[in-house]
Amino acid sequence: MKIKNIATAPEYQGKGYAKKLIEYLVAEYKNTYAILQVGTGDSPLTIPFYEKCGFIRHHIIKNFFTDNYDHPIFECGVQLVDMIYLQRKL
Ligand SMILES: CC(C)(COP(=O)(O)OP(=O)(O)OC[C@H]1O[C@@H](n2cnc3c(N)ncnc32)[C@H](O)[C@@H]1OP(=O)(O)O)[C@@H](O)C(=O)NCCC(=O)NCCS
Repeated sequence: MKIKNIATAPEYQGKGYAKKLIEYLVAEYKNTYAILQVGTGDSPLTIPFYEKCGFIRHHIIKNFFTDNYDHPIFECGVQLVDMIYLQRKL
């Protein structure tokens, strides 16, 4: 199963809501699917969050952001280039 996107409203970030949502998905779908996967840019805003939620880096799609978007994307002053896929067991 793949998470396509997840977001917490800025004023509620850092309060555990997104982690609770991941835990809900795990509990709800653990008997239906084997793996929970997410793809994200190599950004300090997202990778540490997923690692805190038990995901580990699985594979990379090189140049995903530069090949598929018509404009550069920056997070924390760093341009996103590769797509990092992380997985955790359900
Ligand atoms: C990424 C995002 C969804 C996290 O939501 P959140 O509700 O703030 O996350 P939580 O409060 O549930 O955090 C869970 C854990 O991750 C950690 N964490 C969250 N963001 C982090 C960061 N940028 N760096 C380090 N740790 C982080 C928290 O400290 C917490 O750790 P703990 O379990 O030890 O207390 C939120 O920052 C967001 O909406 N960002 C913008 C949208 C986005 O980038 N979505 C991802 C698209 S792939």
